[in-house]
Amino acid sequence: MKDQLLELEERAIEEIEAVHDLSELEKFRIKYLGKKGQVTSFMKNVGGLAPEERPKIGKLANLVKTNLSQRFQEAKKTLISGKGDRAELFDATLPGREPLRGHLHPITLVIKEVCQIFSRMGFRVVKGPNVELDYYNFEALNIPKDHPARDMQDTFYISDNVVLRTHTSPIQVRVMETRKPPVSVIAPGKVYRRDSDVSHTPMFHQVEGLLVDRDVSFGDLKGTLTSFVHQMFGGDTRLRFRPSFFPFTEPSAEVDILCVICGGKGCRTCAHTGWLEILGSGMVDPEVYRFVDYDADIYSGFAFGMGIERIAMLKYGIDDIQLFFKNDMQFLRQF
Ligand code: PHE
Repeated sequence: MKDQLLELEERAIEEIEAVHDLSELEKFRIKYLGKKGQVTSFMKNVGGLAPEERPKIGKLANLVKTNLSQRFQEAKKTLISGKGDRAELFDATLPGREPLRGHLHPITLVIKEVCQIFSRMGFRVVKGPNVELDYYNFEALNIPKDHPARDMQDTFYISDNVVLRTHTSPIQVRVMETRKPPVSVIAPGKVYRRDSDVSHTPMFHQVEGLLVDRDVSFGDLKGTLTSFVHQMFGGDTRLRFRPSFFPFTEPSAEVDILCVICGGKGCRTCAHTGWLEILGSGMVDPEVYRFVDYDADIYSGFAFGMGIERIAMLKYGIDDIQLFFKNDMQFLRQF
């Protein structure tokens, strides 16, 4: 009897060690430990043995059962956790899973493209602080305190003299303050305004441009911006210069491009005008040169500032500015 039992145990151990998946393991359990399993049946027979054999064999049978049950539990754990060399969950023949690769945000992509276009024309990329002195954001741009132009750019005041910049134009002043002409810079960055609705967000992006040298004319401004529009939106994109006003440029012009949505016929996006405004520009106002000690009789220059979200919307045909800031992966994965 004893030999029979040990032989049974040995066989069972051999079998459980060869088990590769959970269904094989379950078969093992039924075969040995189930209600009609071999170990269970053996134990039922112990009652029929001679009285002097019963305790010895009974004890041994219990040990065998405990041993096999333990091995069964261990094997189950290993198979489920996928660890160990008989893990059924690891299939080396499955094709690999490609890790999700990140990419640049559409706004970053457009900023890079704009900067590249101007870099090729010889402009140098510079940056300025987001938290700006009132002096640079308004005062030195010929926007004195109480000037009505401040209303259009209501912003977040940190103290009476410190604001979150409302545009990238303060960088113009910072550049001219530290460098003598010729200067030609392009300055991307975040700007802030107390503005929030379907077409405005309290934070958005601009790219500023400034070029000052001897004999710079409005023709240079037109040529530079026309070349930019053609590189950005395609060589056959029509544009127009529309007279405008900024306290720090004179004369000033806004640039419109023919509506990319309707092709100029008039639609909701272009408010049925056929044209879309993409940037403000003009010849640097001599008043600004006084703040930075440039001689307005010797030097002249132009400046421009464009809204990046606007450009991105037109370039990619996006009709909702909020999409840029929602972190919606379905939207972002398209770029
Ligand atoms: N800073 C102006 C704005 O935010 C744009 C601009 C920049 C206009 C440079 C003229 C020259 O509206």
